Amino acid sequence: MSQLSQRPDWAVVGEALHHESAVLHVTGAALYTDDLPVRHRDVLHAWPVQTDRAHAKVTRLDISPALEVPGVVRVLTAADVPAAGINDAGIKHDEPLFPDEVCYFGHSVAWVLGETQEAARLGALAVEVDLEDLPSLITVSEAIEAGSFQGSQPTVARGDLDAGFAEAKTILSGTFEFSGQEHFYLETNAAFAMIDENGQIFIQSSTQHPSETQDIVSHVLGVPAHQITVQCLRMGGGFGGKEMQPHGYAAIAALGSVLTGRPVRLRLTRTQDLTMCGHRHGFRSKWRVGFSAEGRITALEAMLTADGGWSLDLSEPVLARALCHIDNCYWIPNISVAGRIAKTNKASNTAFRGFGGPQGMLVIEDILGRCAPLLGIDAEELRRRNFYGPGQTTPYGQPVHQHDRIQAVWEQVKANADWQERAAAVEEFNASHPHRKRGLAITPVKFGISFNLTAFNQGGALVHVYKDGSVLINHGGTEMGQGLHTKMIQVAATALGVPVAKVRLAPTRTDKVPNTSATAASSGSDLNGGAIKNACEQIRDRLAIVAAAKLGVPAADIRFSDGVVSGLGADVTCPWEELVHTAYYARTQLFAAGYYRTEGLHWDSRVMKGSPFKYFSHGAAITEVEVDGFTGAYQTRRVDIVHDVGDSLSPLVDIGQIEGAYVQGAGWMTLEDLRWDESDRPTRGRFLTQAASTYKLPSFSEMPPVFNVTLLEQAHEEGAVYGSKAVGEPPLMLAFSVREALRQACAAFGPVGTSVDLGCPATPEAVFWALDEARKGHDPLESAHAQLGGEHPPVADPNAPERRPRSEVAVETLQKA
Ligand code: MTE
Ligand code: MOS
Repeated sequence: MSQLSQRPDWAVVGEALHHESAVLHVTGAALYTDDLPVRHRDVLHAWPVQTDRAHAKVTRLDISPALEVPGVVRVLTAADVPAAGINDAGIKHDEPLFPDEVCYFGHSVAWVLGETQEAARLGALAVEVDLEDLPSLITVSEAIEAGSFQGSQPTVARGDLDAGFAEAKTILSGTFEFSGQEHFYLETNAAFAMIDENGQIFIQSSTQHPSETQDIVSHVLGVPAHQITVQCLRMGGGFGGKEMQPHGYAAIAALGSVLTGRPVRLRLTRTQDLTMCGHRHGFRSKWRVGFSAEGRITALEAMLTADGGWSLDLSEPVLARALCHIDNCYWIPNISVAGRIAKTNKASNTAFRGFGGPQGMLVIEDILGRCAPLLGIDAEELRRRNFYGPGQTTPYGQPVHQHDRIQAVWEQVKANADWQERAAAVEEFNASHPHRKRGLAITPVKFGISFNLTAFNQGGALVHVYKDGSVLINHGGTEMGQGLHTKMIQVAATALGVPVAKVRLAPTRTDKVPNTSATAASSGSDLNGGAIKNACEQIRDRLAIVAAAKLGVPAADIRFSDGVVSGLGADVTCPWEELVHTAYYARTQLFAAGYYRTEGLHWDSRVMKGSPFKYFSHGAAITEVEVDGFTGAYQTRRVDIVHDVGDSLSPLVDIGQIEGAYVQGAGWMTLEDLRWDESDRPTRGRFLTQAASTYKLPSFSEMPPVFNVTLLEQAHEEGAVYGSKAVGEPPLMLAFSVREALRQACAAFGPVGTSVDLGCPATPEAVFWALDEARKGHDPLESAHAQLGGEHPPVADPNAPERRPRSEVAVETLQKA
């Protein structure tokens, strides 16, 4: 067993502790970025000058009227960027901080600093901006038609597509377009900057990636990184939305502080956050799939087009992860999946829990859900038949060593959920209820853990043991509610053999641990846990030498557990505090920097081949829904999940992550409907769902009344920290089961074998259209044929709400199994 994964006899990892800040969270005492400025006098408030065109040239920018507004101190424009710096907030250098071209509705062209927020707001209104309209592209389809793309256009391919299709008994093709998702973190983007007497810049930022925030501020100001410290105390949610997008706001605050010498606070209002920050990428996919007579996939050809928005941001790695997850749990011998990034006049879309993985996986799950009835195979059976088997590799060439875990979670969740009995009960219910139908569906998850970009797979930590035996840890990861800090305290306590109360964790800061990776890709615990463990082991090894002399046994026989140091065969023990005290006087170094890098990864992004992931996380979910045939309204009746987190570091945290991820995924699948003005009016491109009143998030009423989450047992993961697996993102995709359950329920309104075209999100409206189509009772084959060429039957009532068909399927050849 490797050093890293060994779980000692005495361990705090694995204990069900509550979140380390739970009491602060529920009492309101927890501080967030925008709580800090109130402690400082002299603070200036920043407010953006947002524009109101989707795409336009800035022909005149006059800030002088703003300077007349009482309380306005300064207006920041491109002219304020220092000569040594650059006017750009992106790592791809395609995001001017002060643009002279408006690229989306709401794009800010200047920032006003005021003595009060109200003064800054009024100042921003007073700034005069003249715009000259340029043609704009709002939808992905418009971008495709105009050939408007950005960034690389990778392809993941293997095998022989022609041979795969030749071998197929059934060939189906289709398109599927689905929405993105808004992060809706409770804390909007915020930054607070101040400078000290030496001109050093301190920034508290709500950022998942403090080191990159530091880099961008450094570029904008043209000063070296050591002049800039970025701290992240905690975030009120990030969900990927604060991986890259906070940098520009931090740069504005820092620039304002440098120019005025005063602290500057910047916090976006909800509407500013919703209109200026990107969302999850919506995708448009076009696919062609071949199945053997037994329903095995023989070939898949697909084109995924991601809606990138106006700049690249993280769109390239997001797309790469989508391409690397289109296989989900399924063996696809012959495959070619190409991807590209549409450039549209929208805020720049960005990372969101799953980082493109969900989009890739959704495409294959939609294909299977859509095709199962056409093949005459039960959807559960179709999925199971295509699972990876021994010796098989992903399309990009990584072996799927734990294919048996896919089977394990699948069988276990079916047993937990009484699948057989409940499937029969659903059928019975549907037979006796003409206007209400239930659906039951199961979907699996396989998600690769590690950053595709190999360099990011490193972590650092700094651990101090003070003379009194108390321990202070720092690490490079950030806390956004996911419980990383809780786990890190458990790792340190376990590695040093002390109770958790001995360990305190200090805020994430770039002057403590440098060159950190984003807390993202779910790998926060793997990377920072590895680094903390490494630091603690260095200290423990030094202490063992001191203990050996004290207890009269070899250092190798010293054990640390629960604050007591003992020696194998020694008569006496020694309290931790006493040993630390002795060690200090014996001049022992009681602090250490820890480092961890994930071994065994390689990835060639030019050919999209390699083994980019340390391991895969697995899970399976069963969801039951009930749909009303008159309105399309539905309820989720029950959810069962079995998820693989290895040996859990912190079971309460992990279960919370799984529940939260499922609900967030279910929001994306069913409720959350991003809309833009697609008209030709001057408001074209305006983000319409810019408040919680128009953007429906899951709430208590959407929580499944029965929600069983089980962690897979005996799931020790060799080579990961204390045998654990990452948990942050993978369970989001368990929510695909709710959309598939809705598809089943809609199908039950029609004849046996109805293939349902279900919009995504499957809002009640979309569900109504889908079940109404099913209810018309078309022969499923005929209706699939009728949809060849993508023509949908026209909506009968011209005043009826616009139907938004998202998917269409054509049958090329078909042989029922
Ligand atoms: N959980 C909460 N409560 N809040 C968040 O913002 N972000 C998710 C996930 N879980 C998030 C969350 C995302 S997108 C990622 S990548 C992981 O947490 C990051 O943290 P980890 O690497 O420590 O799991
Ligand atoms: Mo998560 S989308 O990797 O921040």
